[in-house]
Amino acid sequence: MSSTSVNQIIDNFSSKAEFYDQYSRIQKLSGQMLLERIPALSYMRVLDLGCGTGFFIPELQELAQHVTCLDASEKMISFVKQRYPTVETVVGDFDNLDSCISTNYDLIVSNYSLQWSQNLTRLFASLKRCSTRKSMFAFAFPISGSLSELKKAFVEIGEPGFINEFYSEEQVKKALDEAKLTNYSVSVTTETVRLVYPGVLDVLHSISKVGAYTNTNEKYEHKLSKTILKNLINHTRAENNANVFNISWKICFIIGTRV
Ligand SMILES: C[S@@+](CC[C@H](N)C(=O)[O-])C[C@H]1O[C@@H](n2cnc3c(N)ncnc32)[C@H](O)[C@@H]1O
Repeated sequence: MSSTSVNQIIDNFSSKAEFYDQYSRIQKLSGQMLLERIPALSYMRVLDLGCGTGFFIPELQELAQHVTCLDASEKMISFVKQRYPTVETVVGDFDNLDSCISTNYDLIVSNYSLQWSQNLTRLFASLKRCSTRKSMFAFAFPISGSLSELKKAFVEIGEPGFINEFYSEEQVKKALDEAKLTNYSVSVTTETVRLVYPGVLDVLHSISKVGAYTNTNEKYEHKLSKTILKNLINHTRAENNANVFNISWKICFIIGTRV
């Protein structure tokens, strides 16, 4: 991923921040699933990486005395500040945590954001420096196998590369190994969630409305033209039952506890 696309990722999230809460269906589901996996202990400080509009701040405030929200999008952070003036906020890049986080946390969470990381190994390794001796981290993000129906449809109309490649489960595990989290007990599990939409256009709409539409495939240079869209709609109508388009999200949950 080039630095241009990183700026593009953030600009695109910023431009749709006002719609995020309305359209973030899978993100909310995944966030609930992640919260269920966090032991209900009394934490001192929690750090949320890629917090977005801070949808889960009330739940995080129940878990911890002090909440810090980090996001690279100033616009997302401005929503957090408006809604939760007492929450600490950081405009920063989770791929460069060392440059923006100096405090130690006993809980570090992230929901539906780390798929945008350019360097998972570095991100995982930096956890060691910003966590307390007794700490845990809990992450949920989509991995390869997600959006497979949409990817298949784009391939079939001659537009491979339109849907971003997600990290595979093997790549995630390799990054964890390379990060050498020797003092942690780490579990990696996956769950596939299927959502039903009336049609392919509704799926694209839901992705676009949350700002998650940056194409990180440098080799793919097409724009989603009216012709491509028309081909896609006609193709999927012919292939699927009327008014039903299923979408799978394969979510990876990583829970790490310092031992
Ligand atoms: C899909 S949203 C998830 C928001 C929130 N965690 C939730 O569950 O609703 C992804 C967020 O990650 C942020 N993001 C993407 N790349 C980032 C990076 N390198 N550093 C920090 N934040 C990043 C985006 O700005 C966006 O707010």
